[in-house]
Order: sequence, then structure tokens, then C-alpha cells
Amino acid sequence: MADKDYIPWSEDLSVGLEEIDEQHKILINLINRLFNEAILKRADKALISDILDELIQYTIVHFAVEESLFRIFDYPDSEAHQEHHNQLKNEVVNFRKKFQDDTPIDIELMSFLKKWITLHIMKDDRKYTPFFLEKGFKAKWTKQQSWMGKIWSSFKG
Ligand SMILES: [Fe+2]
Repeated sequence: MADKDYIPWSEDLSVGLEEIDEQHKILINLINRLFNEAILKRADKALISDILDELIQYTIVHFAVEESLFRIFDYPDSEAHQEHHNQLKNEVVNFRKKFQDDTPIDIELMSFLKKWITLHIMKDDRKYTPFFLEKGFKAKWTKQQSWMGKIWSSFKG
């Protein structure tokens, strides 16, 4: 069975900064994988656990990247944005705990994840784009050229 895009990527989800879009696509892919394995395929608990772990880890890394950009560029809305990040992190970690205690991943959890990522991208993340562009962040940085891409590749070895 071919995997289904629970959250299809669309330009509505683009913040207009390639580098950030790439990271959001990875998050969306993880949520899509979770949907396919947990809901459509009823996969083993161990596999679902792995995807949840990866989702949590990547969310933490991605939020840290955004937050360091806030610090570098002195983003005025940083506090409220970070507060949203903390709430989202806590909720995902709570779901992970519940799942460990034998609450299955259901469509309600999936729609919660879908809502948080799409709303967060469209409402909070899009707000920083004009500010970052003004500060010199390039909309079309490629992985090879950007300093963030260099950090990523050294991080991944
Ligand atoms: Fe964010």
C-alpha cells in the first residue's frame, strides 16, 4: 500500500524561506509516516515509538534552529513564539508518555498534530519572514551555500 499524505505539502505551508521550508517538510513527513503506520497499517508499538521519538527529537532541533535565528536577528516577537514552541513540545511529549502507557495513537491525536503544525507554520512562522529577509536572511539559500546548511552537514557527519 502506497503511503498516503495525511498532510500534503502545499504553497500555503511555505514561509517563503527555503531552508525553513525544508525543515518543515521533514516534520510533516514524520507526521505523515506516523499516520500511515499507526492509523492505516496498525504497525507494532516499537515502530510507532521510533517515529514518535524521531518526531520529538526533530521538533526540538527545529525549534532550537528557529530560536537561535531569533537571537541572532534580535526578533521582537521571540518571547511569544518561544512560548508556543514550549507548549507544543510539552504536548507532544505528553502524547508520547500516554502512548507508552498504552493509549493508542488515534485520529484525534493525528488531527491535533496536523492542526498544530499547520497553524503554527501559517500563523507564527510566517510572521518572521519579512523580518528575517530584512535582516539579510536569503529566501533561496541552498544547503551548500548557507551557514545553516553547513552546520547541518557537520552535525550529520
Ligand atoms: Fe516556530
